[in-house]
Amino acid sequence: MKIGIAADHGGFSLKQKMIHLLEEGGYHLTDFGAGALDRQDDYPDFVAPLARALAAGLIDRGIAICGSGVGAAIVANKFKGVRAALITETYSARQGVEHDDMNLICLGGRVIGPELAKELVFAFLHAHYSGEDRHQRRLDKLARIEKNSFK
Ligand code: RB5
Repeated sequence: MKIGIAADHGGFSLKQKMIHLLEEGGYHLTDFGAGALDRQDDYPDFVAPLARALAAGLIDRGIAICGSGVGAAIVANKFKGVRAALITETYSARQGVEHDDMNLICLGGRVIGPELAKELVFAFLHAHYSGEDRHQRRLDKLARIEKNSFK
């Protein structure tokens, strides 16, 4: 599985820890920045390239971290085919993939610590979309909304 990760200054410290933890766990990650802590940087500059890569199929799953996780989710969901959510507990980390095919997890670097973040990300990465009819029906409706043809 190809994984991308991105963070602004609010998520930078957690991003570095997550890269370390995930690489220890055998995952290979592409880091979309920030490359260094810069308290003046802006989350769209890092989350948009991550979401664009996901939308283009260059990566399979994304992890976006800002201070709260809110801005990251807002940016990521601007990209067609990206299904991002701010996650704070493991039920949604897993079920969001199984039911909604969530492909990008957003975390708040000022809200949660590295141990919880690790559990959330592992639950997200280990989960698989169910493909069940009722779930696919909902995703099909989302696809129609993206195309502006929902009725
Ligand atoms: C940056 O200070 C902060 O506003 C940003 O990381 C994020 O929390 C936005 O949602």
